[in-house]
Amino acid sequence: AHQWRGIIHEYGERLPDHVRTHVVTLGEGGTPLVAAPALSQRTGADVYVKVEGMNPTGSFKDRGMTTAMSAAAGRGAKAVVCASTGNTSASAAAYATRAGMTCVVLVPDGKIAMGKLSQAVAHGARLLQVDGNFDDCLVAARKLAEVYPVELVNSVNPDRIEGQKTASFEVVDALGDAPEIHALPVGNAGNITAYWKGYTEYAADGTASHLPQMWGFQAAGAAPIVLGHPVDAPETIATAIRIGNPASWAQAEAARDESGGLIESVTDDEILAAHRVLSAEVGVFVEPASASGVAGLLKKAEAGLVPAGARVVVTVTGHGLKDPQWALRTPDGSDVVPERIGADVYSIAAALGLE
Ligand code: F0G
Repeated sequence: AHQWRGIIHEYGERLPDHVRTHVVTLGEGGTPLVAAPALSQRTGADVYVKVEGMNPTGSFKDRGMTTAMSAAAGRGAKAVVCASTGNTSASAAAYATRAGMTCVVLVPDGKIAMGKLSQAVAHGARLLQVDGNFDDCLVAARKLAEVYPVELVNSVNPDRIEGQKTASFEVVDALGDAPEIHALPVGNAGNITAYWKGYTEYAADGTASHLPQMWGFQAAGAAPIVLGHPVDAPETIATAIRIGNPASWAQAEAARDESGGLIESVTDDEILAAHRVLSAEVGVFVEPASASGVAGLLKKAEAGLVPAGARVVVTVTGHGLKDPQWALRTPDGSDVVPERIGADVYSIAAALGLE
């Protein structure tokens, strides 16, 4: 029986040598590519979701963290730092523990989902809540790593992109070729950069016969790339992508333009509606930010802009348990309250309308 060994062992020949001298892994990658008939029906396309919440810490960040942390360990680093809206910090904390390193995480004041905060704390990171937003945290983290003996493990670290590009490899390996369209959320824009790099590499050596269009979606209140200028006070319920000045802005535009794709925005209501479709129709529970790719796809389909029968892959980036509160709200905004019932089978059967 074959057990998935993590992306460095599985795709090592496609990764730089320096990530392989001291491998730090938790078995990341090898995530399910799930057919989504409910989304195919709604869009007229052939839709799959790449369920990145199935990574060891519950988000796609683990793919880049195994490579960044392995490279750091190979250089003998003792400490790492990251700025994060939550998932990067959870991942960095877990991989630093595994590597025996100290981990410092800078998170914005408030607006971090509880699941992610608990992960960073559980894995023993030094958690500093910065008086500012994510963009301020990233500026500070970069500076800290420049001046002090601490390695930066945000996606501006090229080793992060190397690891994350393996998600494209997995998609092509599973489908036998690249999809026509790949949709995903865009925040700091590392992931769209990484997917595009992966697809490009597979197409260059003929493993894939063509390249997909990259369709990136930002939250409307945090959509600098769509607007064409940084957003000073980004706001969205999708806290993971509450980012006003993405570090990989230029690379995201390159992925969009070279692929003939697009980067557009979706409102919080559209994100929450897609979140419900994923939970209630597809069977995949994600955190709100993760639903923005699906929200975008549904929006384009409603506008008649998704080619019939096209093969579409949508990355859902993080697990629903990271930020579960959104499932306990009805579409009109009221709280879901569990129905109370007596502990006897007849009351339960009656409540269910069973005869
Ligand atoms: N989805 C989730 C769940 C995320 O956590 C992030 C980014 C994104 C999408 C966007 O990916 O930044 O590569 O464009 N989270 C970072 C963090 C910023 O700190 O965890 P991106």
